[in-house]
Amino acid sequence: MHVCSALLLVISGAGESFSLHIPNSRSSPLSLEKNKNSQCHHMLKHLHNGARITVQMPPNIEGHWVSTSCEVRPGPEFVTRSYQFYNNNTFKAHQFYYRDNHCTTPTYTLVIRGKLRLRQASWIIRGGTEADYQVQRTQVVCHSEAVATELGQRLNQSCRSQGVGPWEPHVVYDLWSEAAGGCDCSRELNFAMHELQLLRVEKQYLQHSPDHLVEELFLGDVHTESAQRMYYRPSSYQAALQNAKNHDHTCIACRIISRSDEQRPPILPPRVDLAVGLHGQWVSQRCEVRPEVLFLTRHFAFHDNNHTWEGHYYHYSDPVCKHPTFTIYARGRYSRGVHSTKVMGGTEFVFKVNYMKVRPMDQATTSLLNVFSGNECGAEGSWQVGVEQDVTPTNGCVALGIRLPHTEYELFRMEQDARGRFLLYNGQRPSDGSSPDRPEKRATSYQMPLVQCAASGLRSGLSGDDSDRPLRLSSGGGRHRPGGLLPVVILMGALLLWLN
Ligand SMILES: *[C@@H]1O[C@H](CO)[C@@H](O)[C@H](O)[C@H]1NC(C)=O
Ligand SMILES: *[C@@H]1O[C@H](CO)[C@@H](O)[C@H](O)[C@H]1NC(C)=O
Ligand SMILES: *[C@@H]1O[C@H](CO)[C@@H](O)[C@H](O)[C@H]1NC(C)=O
Repeated sequence: MHVCSALLLVISGAGESFSLHIPNSRSSPLSLEKNKNSQCHHMLKHLHNGARITVQMPPNIEGHWVSTSCEVRPGPEFVTRSYQFYNNNTFKAHQFYYRDNHCTTPTYTLVIRGKLRLRQASWIIRGGTEADYQVQRTQVVCHSEAVATELGQRLNQSCRSQGVGPWEPHVVYDLWSEAAGGCDCSRELNFAMHELQLLRVEKQYLQHSPDHLVEELFLGDVHTESAQRMYYRPSSYQAALQNAKNHDHTCIACRIISRSDEQRPPILPPRVDLAVGLHGQWVSQRCEVRPEVLFLTRHFAFHDNNHTWEGHYYHYSDPVCKHPTFTIYARGRYSRGVHSTKVMGGTEFVFKVNYMKVRPMDQATTSLLNVFSGNECGAEGSWQVGVEQDVTPTNGCVALGIRLPHTEYELFRMEQDARGRFLLYNGQRPSDGSSPDRPEKRATSYQMPLVQCAASGLRSGLSGDDSDRPLRLSSGGGRHRPGGLLPVVILMGALLLWLN
């Protein structure tokens, strides 16, 4: 795992002097009134806020890596992670499980030991590295009597290798070990370490403290369908872990988690659930990855006065979002939010898309769109690079897999970051590339958060002033939910077919 000839790619230029002023209160619209849009636009154009980011290929993952917050996995499961990778190709991973969405009440902890070997650069996800792993031992510790009794009984039914007598809290039990062989009791917990099959390490020097290095480790995603978890090879990433030695100083969770172990599970500071207020504008904080080779950034505006939304999705062919392929502008209506009974801390919405425009940004996408005939995606054969077309009259775009009108069942939550900025999380797209177009398909976990860039979509004039609307729209402004992943997957599938 030691890499002598590490290739460092500089992603974003150092020394950008622009200093972001981000609204940290919804009650200060005046200071931003004039340049809200340029603010959102600027944040999209300068995703890393002037930070100097390098990607290590192949990655050196040796060290101790921890979650930066309470993570929500499909199910939902509330977890924090603390993973150690050693220079002899072995690892020791702690997964801490909780009863609540703020990770204040630990239930049990898994301790996983095994071997990891890096393979080649991933061809599924550009910029990622593939790896093989082998679990050698999995252990569990329960943190209360109730959990010990419950888990003991549950595992006793499927797996008898746990010895006799009821389980005790704070005692380490083997779920499986290479040495003992036999039945693997961790299966009953739907546990898999497939996330170790896809890795990426990013290093960045933060603009506001150039001496301070932050290292992030991205591991593979977990399938949104729990029945598929054991069989899924990651094609996207989970929230990044940070290096316990080189983490963002504002990350309190990092500090707590890095000092924890199976006998002292991390207990994160209690927080209140923020009511989800969608109004305003929101943008991606980094180049986002979707399953199956897709990179994008998003920009949304929500108008809570009339429950309408607008979204821009900027798609790229590369992991640092430098080479655009196409953009989508969509708009529609959304429902009032209601508390989720399934996902603690989540709020459910229904989104409809009834208007959409597409702008191909490269020759390959333009050619693809031109292959489609008839009334399937805009005017037949008329697509040109950089020229936007309304595809509403053709009920969407077959090439992009979007039919209008389209409805999606959504899950949201909101948080404030250490700088007081509002973060908006929306539901993870189904891992099978489908769309959450039925209530049963509503997400139980989240994507990377968007950050608020303007306190009010209404005041920004994103759609209020016709005279400069084209300009503003072209510089971004909207929301991403409906239509996002599915179209892209189909487009890329079709694109590959076409190029072959
Ligand atoms: C690998 O290194 C770790 C940390 O130094 C050590 O605890 C572990 O026993 C080693 N494993 C093997 C197989 O050498
Ligand atoms: C497991 O099952 C056996 C037989 O049904 C029972 O005697 C034992 O007490 C059980 N152990 C636990 C931990 O529930
Ligand atoms: C909803 O409100 C926004 C902001 O006031 C406005 O720009 C938009 O045209 C309205 N949409 C509809 C359908 O009324």
